[in-house]
Amino acid sequence: MASVKLSNVWKMYGQTEAVRDLNLTCADGEFLCVLGPSGCGKSSTLRMLAGLEHISAGDIYFGDKRVNDLPPKDRDIAMVFENYALYPHKTVYENIANSLRLRRMDKALIDQKVKKAAAMLEIEPLLDRRPAELSGGQKQRTAIGRAIVREPQLFLFDEPIAHLDAKLRAHMRGELKIMQRDLGTTMIYVTHDQLEALSMADHVAVMHEGVLQQFGTPHEIYSQPVNEWVAGFIGEPPMNFVDCEMVEEGGSLCLTHPHFTQVLTEAQAAIVRAKDPAGQRQVRLGVRPDEIAVLAEALDEGIKARVLVTEPLGGDMLVDLALGDSKLLAKTKPDFAGQRGDECSLTFDRNRWHVFDRASGLAYF
Ligand SMILES: Nc1ncnc2c1ncn2[C@@H]1O[C@H](COP(=O)(O)OP(=O)(O)OP(=O)(O)O)[C@@H](O)[C@H]1O
Ligand SMILES: [Mg+2]
Repeated sequence: MASVKLSNVWKMYGQTEAVRDLNLTCADGEFLCVLGPSGCGKSSTLRMLAGLEHISAGDIYFGDKRVNDLPPKDRDIAMVFENYALYPHKTVYENIANSLRLRRMDKALIDQKVKKAAAMLEIEPLLDRRPAELSGGQKQRTAIGRAIVREPQLFLFDEPIAHLDAKLRAHMRGELKIMQRDLGTTMIYVTHDQLEALSMADHVAVMHEGVLQQFGTPHEIYSQPVNEWVAGFIGEPPMNFVDCEMVEEGGSLCLTHPHFTQVLTEAQAAIVRAKDPAGQRQVRLGVRPDEIAVLAEALDEGIKARVLVTEPLGGDMLVDLALGDSKLLAKTKPDFAGQRGDECSLTFDRNRWHVFDRASGLAYF
């Protein structure tokens, strides 16, 4: 097993800065997810770790060993990439068994390992087929099987379950997490799917435009986003943002908006004053849909908004609201009684909301 460290790593393709000055550490035995939208540099990062891509600048270490110039075959890694690269003339069984046969492992032991992996991946009935006779998701599971039987020091997975249907993906999230915990093998797992990252990882590295935005536990990434970009990227449905002014009023720090004034908690006010003692601040309030309580009547207290539409989702209801020119999305219980056009009253959860500096996008809290 190995820890992995990237130190000031850059990847340039001509003028394109695919990865910019990346510093990242994955502890031995840890499950690290690299999460970000298409084109943010996830695969480039993984390919440099695999040795498939030249490192433009910086260093990569496995444990204490600098691996910049180590060929892929000497890195003791197993990869699953989006293009599965299975041997077309070998069966699923032979594809999975291949690396073990090359190692001249005992046949009975190979058989046991292949069947165990196939059972976990639900591809036992397919073991005699060839890749051309498989769906994309089945090929993907075969590629995962081939990687896990190798028992390497490091797994590098790039969107390995992107081609599975939603139900199988949910199943595989659990299975991959159990597999990684059982084997104790360090895992670096690339995905654009926040649900995968939040549900499986010990730590998540959120990337955007080649730059690491935040590194933290799934809980930290979700509940303490460092900037507006991370806050908007993580969470489904996404966080609502409302432009406000932040002003001192009668000893309290308040958020003012044409349709409301909200008082920050003492602890929040202390954070803002310590960071930035200026009097008036242009900020953006961030509130997640489930941090807005909606009452289907216009009370004197509370923030008044209008219902634009309701979206029943079975166990929950999404309510689209108009707050002056701003739109908000709230998540309520399914028995919310408001109808299109109704006035209603909102309460924001002060203990969970976030405030960002509008110019820099950085979070105060
Ligand atoms: N071989 C290449 N030559 C030139 N530019 C490249 C090459 N590979 C990637 N890029 C560019 O580098 C940037 C990062 O690409 P990368 O493949 O790392 O993104 P990604 O995060 O894996 O995206 P996706 O989720 O779409 O797979 C993109 O702007 C991409 O266009
Ligand atoms: Mg990619």
